[in-house]
Amino acid sequence: MSKITYLDHIATLLPSEELEAFKASYQQQLPKTIKVVTSKMALSDFEKIVTIRWWEIEKTVHPDCFYVHKRTWSSTLGQHFLHQGGFFYIQELSASMSAPLLEAKPGELILDLCAAPGGKTVQLADTWSFVIANEPSNPRRKALIYNLNRTGMLNTAVTSFDGTRFGELYPEIFDKVLVDAPCSGEGMSYKTGWPLSWNEWLVCSLARTQVKLLASAIKTCKPWGTIVYSTCTLNQIENEEVIKKTLEAFGDQISLERSKKYRPHRDHTGGFFVAKIQKHSSIKPQNIQQSPKIPLFDTSNKLQFQVRELLKKDFWCENIADTILFFSTSSTIYITTKQYLDIHGKISLDKVGIPIYDIARDGRWIPNHHLGNLFGNLAIHHIFQVSDQQAQAYTEGKDISLRENTSLDEWFLTLKRRDYGFSLAKNVSGILKNKMI
Ligand SMILES: C[S@@+](CC[C@H](N)C(=O)[O-])C[C@H]1O[C@@H](n2cnc3c(N)ncnc32)[C@H](O)[C@@H]1O
Repeated sequence: MSKITYLDHIATLLPSEELEAFKASYQQQLPKTIKVVTSKMALSDFEKIVTIRWWEIEKTVHPDCFYVHKRTWSSTLGQHFLHQGGFFYIQELSASMSAPLLEAKPGELILDLCAAPGGKTVQLADTWSFVIANEPSNPRRKALIYNLNRTGMLNTAVTSFDGTRFGELYPEIFDKVLVDAPCSGEGMSYKTGWPLSWNEWLVCSLARTQVKLLASAIKTCKPWGTIVYSTCTLNQIENEEVIKKTLEAFGDQISLERSKKYRPHRDHTGGFFVAKIQKHSSIKPQNIQQSPKIPLFDTSNKLQFQVRELLKKDFWCENIADTILFFSTSSTIYITTKQYLDIHGKISLDKVGIPIYDIARDGRWIPNHHLGNLFGNLAIHHIFQVSDQQAQAYTEGKDISLRENTSLDEWFLTLKRRDYGFSLAKNVSGILKNKMI
């Protein structure tokens, strides 16, 4: 195959009069956009808090996503304590276009087939559906788990399969599936710089995987379910042609509901492609593979009672929703939602929900940062109200010094910023020891 430049390639995709505008669009910095985690903080509170104090924000097409313009805060958005506390996720606007197309609803079981670092999983789980976030790469899965813990997405579980296997392993079990496929990333040049050449061999190889991932997604989706395919690339081979091949392969068992390509110079976003597919009938798997082993968790009523009683005793947390489920492994107590029981024992999972207590060797339960972050809003006892400055310093790994020793020596306190749980600290002789990191 002959080597062609990236611009030669782009020239094949656009009318010639748009080429200059396309080139110019890559010189411009895109505004930062964030998604507010609405299951943790009411939108109206978020808008009020950040605009009074730090940023100018502007609405986007999504009610929970904002452009962030002016900042009177010296740290970056990612270092801000509201980010570290999981109240928002930084995501370029075009990247936030695919997950809402699934129209996820509470109670639905959703698969995010290519999930790390997790921006779209957070969008999906913030609807109170239950989301399985799959990511085969170990380092990327670590980043995914970090982000799900940070944002308190307790209604999620993580798997580590090659996504092309899902359809055969778990046929027709998900209500909806997102395939945010690995791609050549042409739409990300605003971040990564203008590529010199265009590698057709790489693009074709990615497209072969994308076709397999999309087929797997269709097979693992229930009949009448919805599948959304997206990439952050612009070429036809990884986008329109993947969809065309898939429609040919599945015939009238599926249909394309709509598709759209976001072009930087027209849409003032990164480049992105989305396609929404409807599955019409059952597709019997040709070759069901044996599901891998399932680890055993304690989800007993006794454990539910024990955790609720402890939260009541230690932090006076009442009114924990009936939809919450606690479970334990030999070393950790986790929190998730009862919807997890629908898949318990059916899918091989690497991680479910959020860890809230470590179980020490002597059997004691030691609360962690996530407990303070998740239950701080309910806690009314053993709490400490932090200032913005203290919250920021705590996020940076510092301890908080109390002016005088409290009678609460050797106790865990939930740290609150106004009504919101932010973290948890261990009070050792008047020093709130950092448990965030
Ligand atoms: C475009 S990124 C996903 C971004 C993510 N959806 C988000 O919003 O943060 C594609 C991901 O697919 C993963 N991936 C690569 N090959 C895969 C495969 N065979 N099955 C599933 N995921 C795969 C990559 O490691 C990468 O994390």
